[in-house]
Order: sequence, then C-alpha cells, then structure tokens
Amino acid sequence: MRFKTDFLVIGSGIAGLSFALKVADKGTVAIVTKGEADDTATRYAQGGIAAVMYTPDTYEKHIRDTMVAGDELNNPEIVRITITESTDRIKELISWGANFDRNAAGLFDLGKEGGHSEFRVLHHKDQTGLEIERALLEKIKQHPNITIREHCFAVDLITQHHLGQPVSRRSTDIDCYGAYILDTNTGCIDTILARVTMLATGGAGNVYSNTTNPPVATGDGIAMVYRAKGKIENMEFIQFHPTSLFNPKEKPAFLITEALRGFGAILRNQLEESFMERYDPRGSLAPRDIVARAIDTEMKISGNEHLYLDCRHLPKEGLLSHFPTIFAKCLSIGIDITRDMIPIVPSAHYTCGGIRVDEYAQSTIGHLYASGECASTGLHGANRLASNSLLESIVFSHRASIHAMQALNRISFKEDVPDWNADGMVFNEEMVLITHTLKELQLIMSHYVGIVRSNLRLKRAIDRLRILHRETEELYNKSILTQNICELRNLINTAYLIIKAATERKESRGLHYSIDYPRPNNSDDEKHFID
Ligand code: FAD
Ligand code: SIN
Repeated sequence: MRFKTDFLVIGSGIAGLSFALKVADKGTVAIVTKGEADDTATRYAQGGIAAVMYTPDTYEKHIRDTMVAGDELNNPEIVRITITESTDRIKELISWGANFDRNAAGLFDLGKEGGHSEFRVLHHKDQTGLEIERALLEKIKQHPNITIREHCFAVDLITQHHLGQPVSRRSTDIDCYGAYILDTNTGCIDTILARVTMLATGGAGNVYSNTTNPPVATGDGIAMVYRAKGKIENMEFIQFHPTSLFNPKEKPAFLITEALRGFGAILRNQLEESFMERYDPRGSLAPRDIVARAIDTEMKISGNEHLYLDCRHLPKEGLLSHFPTIFAKCLSIGIDITRDMIPIVPSAHYTCGGIRVDEYAQSTIGHLYASGECASTGLHGANRLASNSLLESIVFSHRASIHAMQALNRISFKEDVPDWNADGMVFNEEMVLITHTLKELQLIMSHYVGIVRSNLRLKRAIDRLRILHRETEELYNKSILTQNICELRNLINTAYLIIKAATERKESRGLHYSIDYPRPNNSDDEKHFID
C-alpha cells in the first residue's frame, strides 16, 4: 500500500506526540508506532520533568547544574535554549491537560534529584510520564488531522538511495522522502511518502541485558539514520541509572526513582554503611555517573550482586503519598520500604547521544527532524542531568515544529519512489537464530561496554560483534521481514556505534569511564564536540 501525509511522525512518546499536536493545524499528520500508542519510555518516567518555575531557582542555576552534570561537554548554547524555554513548555503541557502535584499553598510541589542544586522537578506522584502520555494521547485523539497507526514498524527511511542515486557519509544533500513501514497486522511493507519526517523513536537500552527501558527501546531511529548515512554522535555516553530494583528475572528492570534520594533515602552497602561520601561530597545525590560507578565499585569489591537504598528513617506518610507505585511494587515482592532496605542495582537507562540535530532539531538529512531520546542536541554532554530528557523532548519538538511548518510549502512529495521489493525472500523458520543472537549481544555489551570499560574489553566486544553482524545481515538479506529481525539488526548497529565512539574517546569523561585513560583530556574538548 502507498500513503501520503504532510508530516510523518515515527514514535508516540512525548517527542512524537508533542510535535504532532503542534503541526497538525498546518497539514495532515500520520503517527506510526510499533506497539500500542502508549508503549513508550515516556509512560514509565517517574521522577518528573525539570524546569525553572519559582525563585530561589534561576535559569542560571539550572544551566550550571546541567553543564556540571554533563562534565562540560554540553553545547552551552543548546543548554541555554533548553533551560530558558522550560517554563513556557511546562505551561503548554499543563494547558494540554497534564496535571502536576501542588502543595497546600497551591504551588507546584517541586522535587529534587541528583545533580540539581534546587528543588525544580515537577511531578505527578511517581508516575509523571504516565500522566503526560495520557494527556497528550487524549489531545491527539481530538485532532481531526492526526491519525495514529499502531503496530506499524518503521524499517528504513526513504532517500535518493532508493531511487538508484548512491549516497555516502560525505554526501551533504541527502533528503528524506518518508519511510518504509512494516504493518505487523498484515505483514505488508507500506510506502509512506511524507514532505516532512520526524523521528521520535526513543532510546536503545535493550542493547544491554539489564535495562529500565521498555522492549520498544531498540535504537531503531538511530540505526535508520546511520544506514541512511546521516550523522550520529556521542554514543559512548550511555547512562546507567544507579537504582533499579534488584529482581533478576524482571524485564524491564523496575526503576526506583532518584526522587526518593531527593526525599532523603540513602544508599548503603551490605555493612549498612552510607558509602557515597567516600566517593563524592554530594553523597547519595551526586550526579548519576558518579553514583553508578561508586555502586559498581562497591559491588565488585564485596562480590555482592546488589546494594541497598534505605528509606526506613523517612516519614511513612510522606513516603506513601509521594511514592505509592514504588511502595506497592516493593510490597508485591515482600519488601516493605518503611521497614526493609530496598535491594538495588544499576541498569542501562538513557542514551545520551544519538542522531545529531541542530537547534531546530534538524538532522543532517534534509526534511528529517529528530527529537527526544533518539536525538543528540548537545544538551546532555557526557552525562544527562536527571529529569532533563522529558524537558529536552518538548523543547526540541516545539522548535522542530516552528521550522517544519515554515519549510513545508517548499517541499513536495517524491512520487517516483519505488515500493519495497520482497521478491525471493523466505520466511525464517528458526526464531532461535534471533533470540540467541540477541542474548549474546546483550551479554557482550553488559560485560565489555558497561559502566567501566577498557581497551581490551572494547576490542573483545567489537571482535564478537563483527560475527553477530555478519550472521544477522546474511539472515536479514534472505528473510521475509519481521519486527524481531529488524530490531536485532538495529540493536547490532547501535552497539557498533557505542563501541566505536567509546574506542575513539581516549579519556574518561562523564558516563564513559576507561581504566586505560582514567582522566579527562580537556585539551581535546572541541574535537570531541564537533565529531
Ligand atoms: P519514547 O517515549 O520511548 O517513545 C518512542 C516511541 O517510538 C515509542 O512509541 C516506540 O514504540 C516508537 N518506536 C520506536 N521505534 C520504532 C519503529 N521502528 N517504528 C515505529 N515506532 C517506533 N526522563 C525524565 O526527564 N524524567 C524522568 O522522570 C524519567 N524517568 C524515566 C524512568 C524510566 C523507567 C525510563 C525508562 C526513562 C525515564 N526517563 C525520564 C527518560 C524519558 O522517559 C525518555 O527519555 C523519554 O520519555 C523519551 O521520550 P521519546 O518520545 O523520545 O521516546
Ligand atoms: C528517575 O526518576 O530517577 C528517573 C529520572 C530520569 O531518568 O530523568
């Protein structure tokens, strides 16, 4: 089947939905999403969304905190744009129907997380993302110009490559004409032609065995842009959240929000010692890279599989009213957080790098924008400040919408794009070829490209990845496409980009820590930022 739409939005999290809402008065919008509409990382966001709302907080303080957390590898201009636009975007989210908790005086009940010098995190109990996703989806469903197609998986972006015109990584004139979409209800690959395409496909946590990310986070957008010869950057900066619930069989790992530490919870080791002060004067509320590394070190020294988060000293009423989901979840596995310490372990959580975009979320491919976790705006530098990602998504989807609406009239549909050719492809009867490779990939990444890295580990990882890549490409090239094989291929592409970036960064910086280069190389900042 062939479809045409002015705006094609791939992904239905905060980035895709907020962009769709903004451009819908200007033209037709098709949102495609590979699961149910609310199958997103957005809906799992707990802690909240950071923004400057009241004194004593100021834009300057939030800017400084973002730069410090990012180990100064952030793009200062992008940080300034994001933070100074935060207040307006929050007001807009509220006008769309999102509710954030308020205190008795009617003011926002602002929370605090690691690396923040002020209370500035707006939240809806411990289910902020669910509330935002609900509000956005309700609003989307009311707009006559927007259609959502669920269970539709974007396989590849359409560029001049599909018209027989070769493109390379050096090409500067690549344009996107839409995408090939696998409708998993019918098994058909549709051609969706679009004047503007927005990638809002989220992160890539499933490249690791242990992640807080939902199964949809398989790096699809990043891999699609890489294959289309667009620029990807900063992929070495994978954020591990220090505190996911230690419950080994559960996937994805259940998050224990950092806001709990903002509320006073303390990290402890098996000896019940508050160890964080030995690593950083900010203790349990140091930025995430520092806390995750400290936990990793403590676990390696003691040989234990987890550490603890202690809430026992906190007021029971406050705990229950602010964190009802966490309380109920822990109780369901026999842990009463008012009396027992919570076993925790770090898990892959956030992809700081991704598709390189400018201040209007334009990728390096024409008519293609990217926003949210799949994009790299330069906001996060070497480590994302907690609760800055929901904010980044709405700021850059807004900016993309301004740019795209102005550009729309100058862009026409590319009618002569061929349909997907599946001639000669056969059904892959052996699912084990995919499931086993996926497990191998996740183990390689977890063991060799995790919180602490080294030249030897990265070399091992790339050597093993090459075998998985070759085998998977052979299978892909002869198979009738399924979502599973496409996701595996995208995860392998993403893993390659992480290992390559980690290998090229000959220093320790933020989330990338190598025992071979334990210090930052400040003289090299500019080079790393540009490439
Ligand atoms: P997502 O919300 O992940 O949406 C991606 C969408 O793309 C999904 O609809 C998916 O199905 C779709 N998709 C992907 N690939 C394809 C494809 N090939 N074809 C079609 N559709 C596709 N950040 C904060 O700022 N504050 C928090 O408190 C916070 N808490 C978090 C807690 C958890 C447990 C997790 C996992 C993350 C948290 N984050 C938080 C991070 C934040 O939630 C995400 O970075 C953000 O929601 C990403 O939004 P997004 O729109 O870019 O992607
Ligand atoms: C959390 O609630 O701890 C997650 C916040 C985030 O990832 O920004």
